[in-house]
Amino acid sequence: MEKIRVAIIGYGRSGRDIHTKTLKQLPDLFEIFCYVDADTERQAMIKKEMNKPVFSDYTGLYDHRDDVDLVINASFSQDHARISKELLKRGFNVLSEKPVSKDAAEFQTVLDTAKQAGKKYYAFQQYRFSAGFKKMREIIDSGVLGRIIAIRIEFASLARRWDWQTVHANTAGVLLNNGPHYVDIALILMGFPADVKVFAHMDHANYAGNGEDYVKLIMTSPGAPLTELEMSAGNAYPSQLFTIHGTNGTMKGNDSSLTWKYFIPSEATPLKLDLRPLRNENCEPLYCREKLNFYEENWNENKDTPDKAVSYYRALYDSIVNGSEFPVKAEQVLLQMKVMGEAHAQNSKLFDTNEK
Ligand SMILES: NC(=O)c1ccc[n+]([C@@H]2O[C@H](COP(=O)([O-])OP(=O)(O)OC[C@H]3O[C@@H](n4cnc5c(N)ncnc54)[C@H](O)[C@@H]3O)[C@@H](O)[C@H]2O)c1
Repeated sequence: MEKIRVAIIGYGRSGRDIHTKTLKQLPDLFEIFCYVDADTERQAMIKKEMNKPVFSDYTGLYDHRDDVDLVINASFSQDHARISKELLKRGFNVLSEKPVSKDAAEFQTVLDTAKQAGKKYYAFQQYRFSAGFKKMREIIDSGVLGRIIAIRIEFASLARRWDWQTVHANTAGVLLNNGPHYVDIALILMGFPADVKVFAHMDHANYAGNGEDYVKLIMTSPGAPLTELEMSAGNAYPSQLFTIHGTNGTMKGNDSSLTWKYFIPSEATPLKLDLRPLRNENCEPLYCREKLNFYEENWNENKDTPDKAVSYYRALYDSIVNGSEFPVKAEQVLLQMKVMGEAHAQNSKLFDTNEK
């Protein structure tokens, strides 16, 4: 079987703990050729843990165009677009970590560069490959919940952060850091509507830097469910990661566990409007009460469920080697960047200074 030879830029939480860990599980499909990391301690770690060549700068890859089929760009977020474009121009295919750029306009320049260079460009959106999200879509598509009227995604904890991901100028803050996963999921559930309207409110709670760590993002589009994403570093009592409201049922849960409750309309007495003040046989006032037959079901991830990043890479391999359609489309990521850009524009005053 043909293997895809990769170079990985960055040996941190992403390059080491996600990409390297995942690719090590797929030795028949991928081969790590080399790494790039500017940090000398990380370089020593790469030598020790992976025993692969390591360059201090991505330009070191230029002499290895024929050894590398795909460069995984897990560098700092503010450099994603610039480095991706340089590599595309040099004839490399690129897989970029999220966020793909600082905003939609910059992302468009990346897409234009890929097109001009005739090279492939992929965005790493592994969360949409999680077993929980796939199951959630399956249940929604089955129609058992009826028409979906509202979606709520809550990513919250009471936690402090002090790293580079807390500084707005680093293309960071919670929306650009964690948001790409959840805005992507929200837009999938809304059907990627081009005319999505955005309301966003941001605040600072517990980040050391000036990036936002509270976001309320509401998205609407005619015919799509109202979708709300709340991300908070000031919530010790988070509820569900996902809550899906349907006309016949509700689903709640997360990546690894889902519960849904519903009634079957054909089993219920026909719903008829009655405008008289409600009463019992003694004329005493009544509220609307009935016994609906509710069904409740559960799904739990089992230990054999493939990891989302493994599933992402399997789909990527299938696309590159077998030509199958890759589900993460450039125009979907562009819409995600537009939504996040609009959210930041509505809160630009929050970032006027580098102070919180
Ligand atoms: N998809 C996900 O779930 C996920 C998870 C974590 C991080 N990320 C993304 O991965 C990227 C890296 O984040 P991280 O948490 O791994 O950071 P990190 O601070 O843990 O590590 C970054 C590493 O990359 C090296 N590096 C960065 N830019 C470089 C460059 N231009 N040249 C050479 N070396 C460079 C640094 O020296 C460091 O070793 C970010 O864009 C982040 O948003 C994605």
